[in-house]
Amino acid sequence: MAALFDQTTINGMTLRNRLVRSATWEGMCDTDGRPKQKLINLYRELARGGIGLIVTGYTFVRTDGKQLSGKMGIHRDDFAMDYENLTHAVHDSGGKIAIQLVHAGGQTDAKHAGRQPLAPSAVKVAQFSEIPAELTNAEIGDIVTAFAEAARRARAWGFDAVQLHGAHGYLINQFLSPLTNRRKDEYGGNLKNRSRFLFEVYQKVKDTAGADYPVLIKLNAADNLEGGLEIGDAIRVAEELSAAGIDTIEVSAGIRASGIKNPARNRINKPEKEAYNLTLARRIKAVVNCPVMVVGGFRSYEVAANAIKDDDMNYIAMARPLIREPGLPNRWMQGDLSPAKCISCNRCFGPGLEEGGIYCVVEKKEREKANKLPPGAKAKSITFD
Ligand SMILES: Cc1cc2nc3c(=O)[nH]c(=O)nc-3n(C[C@H](O)[C@H](O)[C@H](O)COP(=O)(O)O)c2cc1C
Ligand code: SF4
Repeated sequence: MAALFDQTTINGMTLRNRLVRSATWEGMCDTDGRPKQKLINLYRELARGGIGLIVTGYTFVRTDGKQLSGKMGIHRDDFAMDYENLTHAVHDSGGKIAIQLVHAGGQTDAKHAGRQPLAPSAVKVAQFSEIPAELTNAEIGDIVTAFAEAARRARAWGFDAVQLHGAHGYLINQFLSPLTNRRKDEYGGNLKNRSRFLFEVYQKVKDTAGADYPVLIKLNAADNLEGGLEIGDAIRVAEELSAAGIDTIEVSAGIRASGIKNPARNRINKPEKEAYNLTLARRIKAVVNCPVMVVGGFRSYEVAANAIKDDDMNYIAMARPLIREPGLPNRWMQGDLSPAKCISCNRCFGPGLEEGGIYCVVEKKEREKANKLPPGAKAKSITFD
């Protein structure tokens, strides 16, 4: 019977357990996307904490696909040494690391993208103020190539896998969603056309990186927004991806504009609120041959273990619990099975925007109280530098 601490292999990548650090933007890069030493330290800390696979924060493949500040970029060959330092730090600590590749599409602004944002259609994306420009077919081809070039660099620089970001309303998701894709050409309309961009990206990435290199995807099983991507279409996309040889699908749901059903839901304070994408993930799992990861609100050991044992999930991915406790996998493995300490308040986003890197604000407050540090003073060991 499958269990949380089984060793498994995905297309030659051996993972020490079924726990995954889901992609988490850290805000720890220079403006051009070059990783800083504190990001490397953070990944080392996660690897030491026992996680099976780390997925990096979303990493732009072209500068016009950048969203938040401090985001990683993989658009330049001269970042080689920085990224090699990063992957070595993880491997030396016994971990494995996949890099998440993204183009933000219309979910950005001129300040971060350096130009008017680009999207499948010139439709304003909810919660973003600028109307994007509609991509020409030539520009679509260029972005497909940028994903493939990113995968080439990722493999050369020691990443164990790439993960395509096909969730949370970014460009791949924008093409899939009828809400943001109003095109009348071969990239819009029916599902085959709306998924054309995704399959072009997938195929070119696979061809460039090689059949023996794991290519994963984080896929929205639903946008949780009227008129957006629905589970029926997501199931068909997942089925096609599986047939095309995708190595793993991580199931998520929601976009920033989805209100309480956004990807990182608040107040997960009892087991019944946990695992909020599991029902969708089960439906995806039923039609695919590849392994399935599920993310969203996992906090208790039992909920995670049961999703593997009873619901046929292959991997459990977590983001916020590992911001607060990078050593959570080792803690559970060593027998302390109390739930993750994260209270799902989402206050960790703030320091990523304002202080040069995310950390758990709640933990800092608790430390300040315990250490009687004056309010505002920096608590030790939570900024990872
Ligand atoms: C600070 C922060 C940054 C995030 N950055 C990303 C990201 O770069 N890519 C991504 O796919 N999801 C991102 N997410 C979403 C998480 O990967 C995850 O899907 C979501 O938080 C739900 O999982 P959790 O309940 O374990 O946190 C982020 C979440 C947080 C809190
Ligand atoms: S600030 Fe801390 S407790 Fe709140 S969501 Fe982030 S990691 Fe969890």
